Amino acid sequence: MSKKPFVIFGLVLVLLAVVVPAWVFLKEGDSETGRLEVPANLKTGQSLFQGSCGNCHTLYAAGTEGDFGPNLDQRLAPAGTPTGEGSEGQIEATRTQVLNAIHNGLDDPTVPGQMPADIVVGSGAEEVAEFVAQTAGRG
Ligand code: HEC
Repeated sequence: MSKKPFVIFGLVLVLLAVVVPAWVFLKEGDSETGRLEVPANLKTGQSLFQGSCGNCHTLYAAGTEGDFGPNLDQRLAPAGTPTGEGSEGQIEATRTQVLNAIHNGLDDPTVPGQMPADIVVGSGAEEVAEFVAQTAGRG
């Protein structure tokens, strides 16, 4: 009896077991294009942002496209994240601005919608603020 049917069956199994999951996995990766690969110390802030802020805010570095609140790349660093001399001061200022928005919320009557206070708290808030301050305006 020929072994050929078994070989073909084996190949089909390999296809189902390995190739299909790999393809699905790669496809999921693709849908996240635009998300910036960030240093390890910003990763917690990045995923907190994706989970807690991304529904409302667009931020290139997080790969989010929320349009309920302002686009944070434009609002916080319209000319891109500053580099070089003086940039530390500006990043510091942005970090404070983001922390204020998180702690107090925001309801500017001239801007549609409002930002609820304390969506993230404690060290989570610090991590999100650091991530946003370091990355707003990229891309
Ligand atoms: C429910 C939607 C919503 C969520 C969730 C949300 N925001 Fe907002 N955010 C807004 C709106 C709306 C505004 C504009 C409010 C205004 O100007 O009155 C805003 C404004 C801001 C601003 C601008 C502050 C300024 O000084 O101009 C920052 C920074 C900000 N949000 C950061 C965040 C961060 C970080 C998170 C996650 C922890 C977050 N937001 C979650 C809706 C949201």
